[in-house]
Formats: sequence, structure tokens, C-alpha cells
Amino acid sequence: MNKASENITRDVSLKNSIFRIGYVFSVDGLEIKIKVDKRKNSSHLLYKGDLLKNTSVGGYLKIAKGFTSIIAKVGGEYIKEEKYYNYEYKREEDKIDRILKVQLLGYIENGKFERGIKELPLIYNQCFLLDKDEFSIVHDFVNVNDKAIKIGSLALEKGQDINIGINSVFASHIGIFGNTGSGKSYTLAKIYRELFLKFQGNLNFKNNAKFFILDFNGEYVSNEFGNDIIINEPNKSIYELSTSNNSNSHQFPISKENINNTDFWVIILDATEKTQKPFLQRVLKNDSFFKKGYVEIVNDIFNDIIVKEDENLGLKAMTNLLSDLYDYIENKQDLLTFKSEIGEKLGTYKNGNFYIKNPENDKHDKSEIKNIIKKNINDFKFSELNEVKKIGLKIILKYHSEIVNGHSNVEHLSPLIKRLDKRIDELSKIIKYNDEEIFTNEKPNLVIVSLKNVGIEMKKMLPLLMCKQLYDEKKAKNENTTYLNIIIDEAHNILSYKSDRESETWKDYRLETFEEIIKEGRKFGVFLTIASQRPSDISSTIISQLHNYFIHRLINERDIEAVGRTISYLDKVSHDTLPILPTGTCIFAGLSAHVPVVVKIDTIEPKKHEPDNKTINLIENWVDKEEQTGTKIEDEKVLIITEKIDTDDLPF
Ligand SMILES: Nc1ncnc2c1ncn2[C@@H]1O[C@H](COP(=O)(O)OP(=O)(O)OP(=O)(O)O)[C@@H](O)[C@H]1O
Ligand SMILES: [Mg+2]
Repeated sequence: MNKASENITRDVSLKNSIFRIGYVFSVDGLEIKIKVDKRKNSSHLLYKGDLLKNTSVGGYLKIAKGFTSIIAKVGGEYIKEEKYYNYEYKREEDKIDRILKVQLLGYIENGKFERGIKELPLIYNQCFLLDKDEFSIVHDFVNVNDKAIKIGSLALEKGQDINIGINSVFASHIGIFGNTGSGKSYTLAKIYRELFLKFQGNLNFKNNAKFFILDFNGEYVSNEFGNDIIINEPNKSIYELSTSNNSNSHQFPISKENINNTDFWVIILDATEKTQKPFLQRVLKNDSFFKKGYVEIVNDIFNDIIVKEDENLGLKAMTNLLSDLYDYIENKQDLLTFKSEIGEKLGTYKNGNFYIKNPENDKHDKSEIKNIIKKNINDFKFSELNEVKKIGLKIILKYHSEIVNGHSNVEHLSPLIKRLDKRIDELSKIIKYNDEEIFTNEKPNLVIVSLKNVGIEMKKMLPLLMCKQLYDEKKAKNENTTYLNIIIDEAHNILSYKSDRESETWKDYRLETFEEIIKEGRKFGVFLTIASQRPSDISSTIISQLHNYFIHRLINERDIEAVGRTISYLDKVSHDTLPILPTGTCIFAGLSAHVPVVVKIDTIEPKKHEPDNKTINLIENWVDKEEQTGTKIEDEKVLIITEKIDTDDLPF
């Protein structure tokens, strides 16, 4: 044996003797136990001048079985004391056997870590600590054909970067969970910022990848530095929607097809399945009814009321119709005058017939009444209506016509009409009817929609309509080169499984839509990223279909359970650390991580790209300015004094 190979052999055996920590002593199904060598019970080991951390719960081990290196994670440990004293023992602790319970994760083959179990260890297989290279291999989540972005570093092993594979993470559904203030929005912004930094310069990225962020709290619109959250302003489109009378707000384009779709209106008006939905269908599908023009329809309804001679209808039916038309008429004063005139001049006989109250004309003269009505109605000027309001008017006209003609029941439809005004008003503030697409190659490929100033009802409905529209458009195109990522922060707002306020139909429709995107979206290049503080509220079908998870601190038992139940990748140690994760640190687990890892997410630099989600600093806001500066001066004084003290002068 020459000198060089002698050295190598010596090196290898030295390493083996130092890195060896014990052997397998029990294999019970997948439960493997390892007995730690008595000399390896210290917390650190020395190897070539480096201090190595000895194995402990949460750490990794390599089990050598022939040429295969099986990688395992330590899940727990306990000690066993030998019953009979052996005089060879010099130290008390030698009596003790340390036993590790480990969980198999995968194996290293051809320098790559593969997840899964190929072989089970045998009793007496030797176990080693992982060296630096092996440790890196286990934490290398990026495939050969993939590209990497760095999101942070291993929380327990500072030097170890955590890179994620772009293909394996972004071509998947992502879940980001954690209690409020645990860092979800920050993590979300960080991973998308890194992605944009990597690809922003590529024309193909701009044309083929579209990102749509639904922002319930306006965290991604602007911060103290300006509008450059995630990426600089010119590279993204921001829609700030508002249902209050804010002239600066934007409107989101909804396609003609959608606006004439019954389901759209069923959602907006919370229509009931059995009676209100078919009514809306009749409104939207029955074009011939509206062909004659609005004035003519109003005239017809008045005529019908008179002809019917129905005591239940009478004056009330006329004045109700006029009240409902108020919003849609330009010459509102004329309408009001007409309404009071009807009240004064028209009355009903006991049998329901109309007559004119004027004593000179005290006859049962229907044609004259008709003339008065016709004259007034012909003077109506309907306002210039946007597409939403047009449908509102159609609903009103059809409703009154059906009620007067006995085709529908007031009790069934009136709740819908009561909701109509407010919803139409809010909706026409936040959407525009337009076949314009929000994503074209000329426009930025990141769209942020802020729903911060949108009323509570629309906040629930609009996201669903927008997501459905985007998904359906993408599905219809059926191209597999383009990509759409729908990113929803605070997703419990629309994905919650429980909500007492909403009807069953609406809930089903809502969950079905998102469940379809989760289940089928991949085929059409549509992916979801959802962030939420209440995973237990979100339908388990949705949570369990996510592929990759960033799980921040979770304290509530039910949330931990919801995550634990659906994410089988989580081992016990990771699961148990969930309640104590610091802000900005999360467990990254899922298809693209070989092993769940605790990652300290890197900061977003510069700060102008951070989401606007600072936790309020009470001291800064409550203490008066003078006092604050005063404290500072005091502190500085103390510092200076301590620096000057010379220890030799001290009396002790
Ligand atoms: N990786 C990180 N590095 C530095 N600061 C962070 C990090 N993650 C979060 N923070 C800070 O922690 C605070 C809370 O983070 P964030 O708003 O992202 O929490 P959240 O989980 O989204 O909360 P909520 O559920 O209320 O929206 C913020 O001030 C943020 O700047
Ligand atoms: Mg947040």
C-alpha cells in the first residue's frame, strides 16, 4: 500500500470512528431503534478541529447497509440502565444505554437523496452522523433540470441555505399557514419576489406566466416607501376596488359572457335554488320580453294592473313599481309627482276597479286613467345605464310583470328584490363590463386586486367571480405553455368551510369552484397559492390537495390538527415545533422538500418591497416624543460610563 492510499484509509477509518454513533438494535416494522455507543454520549464531538453537534432529537443519521446509505431522522430517545454492574465501567454513565427511535426518510444513491424506503436496515447495521456534504445533499431540494431560488436558511443549522426548485414549487398548489403575525404575508411576498427577480428580464416569462394576487387587506398595494411591494410599480397592475364613493377607485373588468350568466347573478344576489334562480334565468334568457323597450314594458305593467281589477294589486302595485324605478330614471322629480298624483287621483272600488277621484269625472272610466298613465310614463327618461344597472332594471321590470300577471309569488321573489338595490349599486362601483382581458402580453404579468375598501358582502362574492372568470378563460384556451397562479392571502375569507350567514347553495358553489381549480387546475396550468391563519376553517379537500406547505407558528389545537391530519409529510418533531416557531420561521414541507425543514425566511431587501404589515409598536406611539429622546440620552450616558470603568480600580 503506498503512502497516499494509506493516508486515505487512515482518514476514512478515523472519520468512521468519530462519526459512528451506534448500531441498529431493533427493527419493528418501520420503527427502528438505535443503541448509541457509550463513548458517544456527549453533546459535541471533535473532528479535525471542528466541533460537531452530536445526534439529538430532530437530527439526522445515516444507517450503512452494505453500499446503501439509509437516511433517518431521530424522533425520540430514552435511556436504559444496565441491571448488573460491570466492573469494567469507570464512569457511572457507562451503565446507561442511550436508545434513539428513528424514522426512515430515504436513501442516498449516486450522490442524490431519494425520498422513500427502498430497503429496511438490519440489526447491527452501523449508524453514523451525517458529514457536511451528506447534510447538504439531504437538504438539496432542487432537481437537476430545475432552477433554484434561495428562500432562507435552516433555522437550526445557520450555514445551510434552503433553495427551492422553481418547477417543483411553482407548478404546484402552495399553502402558507400560521397564526396572525407569524410571517405568512412576508413569506408569500418573499418567494414571489425571488421568482420575479430570477425571471423578470425574460420576455417568455412575461408572456407565459401570469400572477393574480387577491389582497383582502391592501397589504400588497403600498407601504411607507411607495407602491413597490414585491416588485417595482411599473411592472404590475394594481386594482384598488372600493364600494364607498371613492372616485379614485378602479373597476375590475368582467366579461360580457359572465355578466349575462345566471350563476353570476345567483351569487351576487344570493338567489335561492328553487324559485329565485329560475326567475333570474327568465330575466337573462328572455330577450323578447325586453325588445319593446323599457317605457313600453312599464306601460304594459300599469295596464295589466288596471285590467286585472285585482284588489290585492291596486294602487300599491303601481306605487311599488314607481319606487323601484326611482334609481333608473333621470327625471326623478317627474316620477315623484306622478307617484303622488296616482295617490291623489286614483282609487279603487271595493271590487278592485279603478276610478278617478275627481268628482266631476266620477265615472268608471278606464280609458281615461290609461291615458293619464300613458302620458306620464311616456315622459320617463331612463338614465344612461351601465351593463350592471341594465340587468338590475330588467330584474325589476320582470319581477313586477310576473307578480301582476300572477306568474310568480311575491313572498318568493321580494327578498331578492330587497337585496337588489344595494348589491347593484356596490357592484357597479367595483366592476366594469368589458371584454378587456386583464392579462395580455402588453400588460404587466402581475395583477394585484385590493379588496380592502370593498363591502363585506362583495368581499365574499367578487373574488369567487374573478377567480372563476380567470380559470374559465384559461381552461377554454387550453394551452399548456401558459401559466396562471392565483394567489389568495387571508384565504379563509372565501374558503372557509363554515359560515352561518350564507346559504347552502352559495357555499357549495364557492367550494366547488375552488375545489375544481385545486383538483383540475394543474391540467390547464392554473395553480393556487393560499395563505390563511385558520387552516381548520378551510375545507379539508382543499388543504389536502395542496402540494407544498410553508407552515408558520400555529397555536390553536384545531389548526394544528387540521394541518397535521392532511399533511402526511410532517414528522412528529416538526409537528411538535409548530406552536413555538418564531416569526419569520416556518416549516417547509411537501412534494418538493425531501424532508420537512425548519426555515428562517430571508429578509426582503430593500424594505420597499416588503408587504405593508408592520405590527404596531405601542411604545413608539404612546410615549411622548420628548420622553423618548430623554430615555435615549440616559441610555447613552450609562453606556459611556460603563466604557470608562477600569476593572483594576474596582474595590472588589
Ligand atoms: N422572515 C422575516 N424576516 C423579517 N421580518 C419578518 C419576517 N417574517 C415576518 N416578519 C415581520 O413580522 C411581522 C408579521 O408578519 P406578517 O404580516 O407577514 O404576518 P402574517 O402571518 O401575514 O399575519 P396576518 O395573519 O395578521 O396577516 C411583520 O412586521 C413582518 O415584517
Ligand atoms: Mg398576512
